Amino acid sequence: MIAGLSCVGPSLAQTPSRPEALLKKMTLDEKIGQLVQRAGGRSKALNSRLDDSELERVRAGGVGSYLHVAGAEPLAKLQKVAVEESRLGIPLLFSMDVVHGYRTIFPVPLAIAATWAPESEERAARVAADEATAAGLHWTFAPMIDIARDPRWGRIVEGAGEDPYLGARMAVAQVNGFQGGNTLRPGSLMATAKHFGAYGAAIGGRDYNSADLSERTLQEVYLPPFYAAARAGAGSFMAAFNDIAGVPTTANRELLRGTLRERWGWQGLLVSDWGAIGELLSHGVAADRAGAAVLSLDASVDMDMVGAVYAEDLKGAIAKDPARIKLLDEAVLRILRVKEQLGLFDRPMAYHDVAREARELLSPEHREAARAVARQSIVLLRNEGRVLPLNPDKLRSIAVIGALATDGRSALGSWKAQGREEEVVTLLKGITAAAPRTLRILSAPGADPRNVDLTGIPAAVKAAKSADVVVLMIGEDFDLSGESRSRSDLGLPPSQDELARRILDLGKPVVVVLANGRPLAIPLLADRATAILETWMLGTESGNAIADVLFGKYSPAGRLPAAFPRATGAVPFNYAANPTGRPADPDLAKDTVRYHDLPITPLYPFGHGLTYSEFRYSDLAQSTASVDPGGRIDISITVENTGGVASDEVVQLYCRDPVASVARPVLELRGFKRVDLGAGTRKRITFSLTPEQFAFWSPRGQWLIESGRIDFWIGASSADLRAKGSFEITKTHAGTAPAAALPTRVIVSSN
Ligand code: BGC
Repeated sequence: MIAGLSCVGPSLAQTPSRPEALLKKMTLDEKIGQLVQRAGGRSKALNSRLDDSELERVRAGGVGSYLHVAGAEPLAKLQKVAVEESRLGIPLLFSMDVVHGYRTIFPVPLAIAATWAPESEERAARVAADEATAAGLHWTFAPMIDIARDPRWGRIVEGAGEDPYLGARMAVAQVNGFQGGNTLRPGSLMATAKHFGAYGAAIGGRDYNSADLSERTLQEVYLPPFYAAARAGAGSFMAAFNDIAGVPTTANRELLRGTLRERWGWQGLLVSDWGAIGELLSHGVAADRAGAAVLSLDASVDMDMVGAVYAEDLKGAIAKDPARIKLLDEAVLRILRVKEQLGLFDRPMAYHDVAREARELLSPEHREAARAVARQSIVLLRNEGRVLPLNPDKLRSIAVIGALATDGRSALGSWKAQGREEEVVTLLKGITAAAPRTLRILSAPGADPRNVDLTGIPAAVKAAKSADVVVLMIGEDFDLSGESRSRSDLGLPPSQDELARRILDLGKPVVVVLANGRPLAIPLLADRATAILETWMLGTESGNAIADVLFGKYSPAGRLPAAFPRATGAVPFNYAANPTGRPADPDLAKDTVRYHDLPITPLYPFGHGLTYSEFRYSDLAQSTASVDPGGRIDISITVENTGGVASDEVVQLYCRDPVASVARPVLELRGFKRVDLGAGTRKRITFSLTPEQFAFWSPRGQWLIESGRIDFWIGASSADLRAKGSFEITKTHAGTAPAAALPTRVIVSSN
């Protein structure tokens, strides 16, 4: 077990006596029952399956958990049956995908990652947990912490983007927010780190597809957020649907039992993805369902989400080999242990306070928090002639064009839990509420990303023509990203592209408000739009947040958590690439690593985002020129707001190991801080690092820190580096953890 991990998640060593005592009393059927998770609702219809036959199943001890259920009152009834009418009175676990809000919907996770403010991510998860636990839920299938380097993959919207360091920080923030502290405890919403371990590496960005990647990339890029989530005490993990080099994760003993449980020391509840145990047959690694059950149990998958393979086929497999009962007992214990930690044995009705439910859902404080996080998520990609912020006193009219400007459903994103379209402040509503009465607001849908109907475009052009400025909201609707929503083309949907061309042809100032769940290839907009605000899908308070930014009440300061490509054919593209023997060079005359027909730079790089102000970076200093194993180096810089407008700035620290026994990436993010700076004010930011943060996965299969020089840069994006330095690591030594998982300490002082 890795040092420092002995208290990760529910630990076997601290086993409370109750789960063990219960285990001794359980029949084989009751044990298997704990491993069964059933859907309590058909499709998205909550609780619709909870009929008499379902209650009978609970009475018989045949169910451990439900998903697609909610509501303090209906779930109280169900829980009562479990604790009062089943033989052993074991409580049920109620779960749902509460991903970025329960009723008050926050921005989609990719958008929250664009805040580069883990404290905001934690706040969002806390609000979601307050609402969900008030509505009877114990467990969420979030955070999704898969690294995504191919934006064709629709689930990039559910995670923190391309970078393992940013991803690890956001993973920890969500675990802490959901669980309400750094361990599972009574009243927590148990977090699920998913989808362990390389779901985001699906070949071609096609959802569910195989991943085939080097051990080094797995360890250095895909696993760090999971390691960080395990360390943060995530109560649950979910195994990914896909296979890595032919080994389906649900049956990946080496990864699940070996890496996660034995090497990382994590002992929480491991759940399969939806029906994934049964899918081992389609993968071609099990001949029948009993074989699939054995593989999964052996890999230490504790709970079978919906598939009923454990429910129906595990008993027979155990009869064939009674030694398997030991594996079953371990799984049951892990499930009982999280039930105990959530306080369900002592206070099974604690999550069913109807008055609290009424108070919490969509409370004014929650809406305010959602608005604040939404504003922070907005990224200003372009602002020609400083057209933004708009000054409403100098404008007579504004045209709000685009079907997305009135599309509340799309603002909620693909996982909306119990979010309601009618409670969303759309862009049109937000602008109308924020604008002075003297400002004339024209609006027209023009075209909807859902279809190719262009008949509304002439009316939109007419409205745009008669206005002083156009706010054009275009992009993807909610159903173009998310699970099973991979796209082969990263351009704007055809109707949106046509609408944009016709509006841009008017030659007026056009502020594009982009809505999307993934990086897009938008050369047309980058070339011709006056300004581009990346607004993702911002949730319930979407329109208010965008209006705050459009009219200058708030300076945008979000940064891209994944690069925008110049064309679909340029993905995957990642700033943290290896140098190669012929490093990328903008000089197209040379034969270097590039496309013949495109510059070897993204359209908008990782970490990019403008503000309404400007910042000067100065006085770089470092505490030492060389660091010993176990030592630290502090790197400090002063950032001054010189632009005359109060704004946040996201200060970023990148590093490189220029000479090592294996080629190291040309840049790697190793620290960042979002700071707020009043006009004319300055702050000093200190990043404190250890040599462990420069470990790489050696060809011998271990973390290694090599002696030698480390270069570092501080800047405003991966392509806007303002100050450079270097230091030496004095000795080669073994590391213990994925480097990107380890946090850099940041200190901000106001000199
Ligand atoms: C998804 C998971 C999700 C589960 C339950 C699956 O299809 O892959 O991310 O948690 O469904 O809704």
